[in-house]
Amino acid sequence: MSSNSTTSESEKLLDALIQIVGQAHVLTGDQVNQRATHFWDSSPLIAKALVRPANTQQTSDVLKLCHEASQVVVTHGGLTGLVDGNHTTDADIVLSLERQTAIESVDEKGHTMVVQAGAILQKIQEAAAKTNLQFGLDLGARGSCTIGGNISTNAGGLSVLRYGMTREQVLGLEVVLADGTVLSSMNQMMKNNAGYDLKHLFIGSEGTLGVITRAVLRLRAATPHVDTAMLAFSSFEQVTDLLNDISASLNSSLDAFEVIWQPFYQLNTNPKIEGTSTAPLPASYPLYAIVETRSNQADSATDQFQQALENAMNNGLIQDAVIAQSEKERTNIWHIREHIDIALSHNPVFVYDISLPIADMGHYVETTISTLEKQWPGVIVYVYGHLADGNLHVLVAPPCESPVDEETRCNWQNISNDIVYIPLQDLGGSISAEHGIGLTKKAYLHYSRTPAEVELMKTLKQTLDPAGILNPGKII
Ligand code: LAC
Ligand code: ZN
Repeated sequence: MSSNSTTSESEKLLDALIQIVGQAHVLTGDQVNQRATHFWDSSPLIAKALVRPANTQQTSDVLKLCHEASQVVVTHGGLTGLVDGNHTTDADIVLSLERQTAIESVDEKGHTMVVQAGAILQKIQEAAAKTNLQFGLDLGARGSCTIGGNISTNAGGLSVLRYGMTREQVLGLEVVLADGTVLSSMNQMMKNNAGYDLKHLFIGSEGTLGVITRAVLRLRAATPHVDTAMLAFSSFEQVTDLLNDISASLNSSLDAFEVIWQPFYQLNTNPKIEGTSTAPLPASYPLYAIVETRSNQADSATDQFQQALENAMNNGLIQDAVIAQSEKERTNIWHIREHIDIALSHNPVFVYDISLPIADMGHYVETTISTLEKQWPGVIVYVYGHLADGNLHVLVAPPCESPVDEETRCNWQNISNDIVYIPLQDLGGSISAEHGIGLTKKAYLHYSRTPAEVELMKTLKQTLDPAGILNPGKII
């Protein structure tokens, strides 16, 4: 095919897209490049066009057209992912859900909410709170990430310990399939065993099997009363002993148990760096944890929280502790954990979200850091994460004076990947606890999934997206 006919086919496609969504909602050229690649990377977004359908029908028409034209479509939400799952080339169409942001309804009796996929997580949390309910998903990117992105990546976050992953917050979905078919699976029921539960195919499929356009979310009773503490430990054993202890004493009110190894605590409380927190505890301990409980009874809950921590302290399970006395102090504490921007500003930095048995974590972290130090003397390794979920984040920043070229960066990343991932196989861990596979971890999928599992993934992809237009090349 000559390049002229390619150009004219491309123009025809753009014209047809304009017919569906209107001129103002097919962005090309500078309108695309002015946007950032993603939340963590301000380099220009590259795409043939960015299309913004207003609703499910338009989304369906766009996909039908792209399916017939074998046109690649990459769906974008809030772009806060960390695995290049939203990566595009100049031959791709970006399908942005940014106009489909409505919170359509809240059922206060049934504890459900119907939302469009482009709704921002924080708006969903706020809407639930207005009705004395809450949504069981929370993560640092709440102000930017969309529920469609959360669902398509089965996001984890800060409340998994209590409420589970995103999958457990979703009762129903509306999905547009690759050929434009609208699959309405908007179940509102807690229990529905009528055949296959198809929504689960799309949750965590990273935009490769369909485009999520609407969802029925499960809401929970509100727990407006919050108690938060920052704890310090002298050893990893102390952390796990304390977790066991408070899991029993604080039981179902335990909402978060986040652990931070010293380097990340020191970074995010460094007074010489702008935007860091005030250190609530000295920065000299090897390990820290944020513990948070939530309930709806203010006084008794606070007493119970204080008592549990006091007992743990008396039993030698905590080295040092501070309980937040105000929302300001609580925010300061959480900022130490949630503020990942400074760590991510190293260039290069390799980001991991592994899972492994909690009992193995102390030894794993020690040996992994020591191997990384042998490889790159002076390497910075930040470790923190959702310890009670068996999930740690490891950020590896090899020392370098000036930015390295792409080839070196890739070589370093491969070396770092092997050091971080290989020991996980023997431990029965996973290369991705919550961020997904995207492009970044694709070559390592077989570390965490069997050949038969990967084959079935390929069969599902082929069946649901025979023309291979939906976020191709991601995951598998
Ligand atoms: C976090 C992101 C990286 O928990 O998952 O900070
Ligand atoms: Zn996380």
